[in-house]
Amino acid sequence: MELLPIFSTPVWMSVYPDFEEHKNSFLTCVRNFKEQNPQGENKSNITGYHSPETLQGEAELHPLFQYVCEMALQAVQDLNFVPNNVFLTSAWVNFNDTRECMNSEHIHGEILSGVFYLKAPPESGKFVISNPGLNRLWGGCNLIKEKNQFTGEMMRIEPEEGSILLFPSYLPHSVETNHHDDERISISFNLMVLPEGQVTIPQQQS
Ligand SMILES: [Fe+2]
Repeated sequence: MELLPIFSTPVWMSVYPDFEEHKNSFLTCVRNFKEQNPQGENKSNITGYHSPETLQGEAELHPLFQYVCEMALQAVQDLNFVPNNVFLTSAWVNFNDTRECMNSEHIHGEILSGVFYLKAPPESGKFVISNPGLNRLWGGCNLIKEKNQFTGEMMRIEPEEGSILLFPSYLPHSVETNHHDDERISISFNLMVLPEGQVTIPQQQS
């Protein structure tokens, strides 16, 4: 009998190469952005701060977003897409800075999405990816001796400062509770991918 591992879920990881050089200017930028937009938004954030999703307009962060777009161009090669262009359509910052902070499970709406860890103290909340190929109500979940690639319900990833995760926007994910009051600061983003020749009108920045 032959086992056919017929589907797979891609997640790309990279480390932003200029992190040490740009860390302080990124921190200053997102702190200012939070100060200018104190109300934030209510999305998956439980008690934490979720900024308006217009962070892509901040010039100090453009080197990061440029790198993210380069990652996306490589990612779509792995996905074997038709020739295309990638556009970073939205970005926002999350501050999970008390022990009540977490992010409930959700998906995003574009083609690719991701997160960059600007500040991630130990035990401030692992990033959790749920296996989209497994239904947790399946009775087999109760029979697993040791989880493997077919039976793992979730992957828990310890955030590393300076690292970037990129994944298909359909992938359900969440953030575990912060175990202390130290700041966990992450920048999330969405990317649209359009076939070459297809154009879009950029959204007005507020
Ligand atoms: Fe998310």
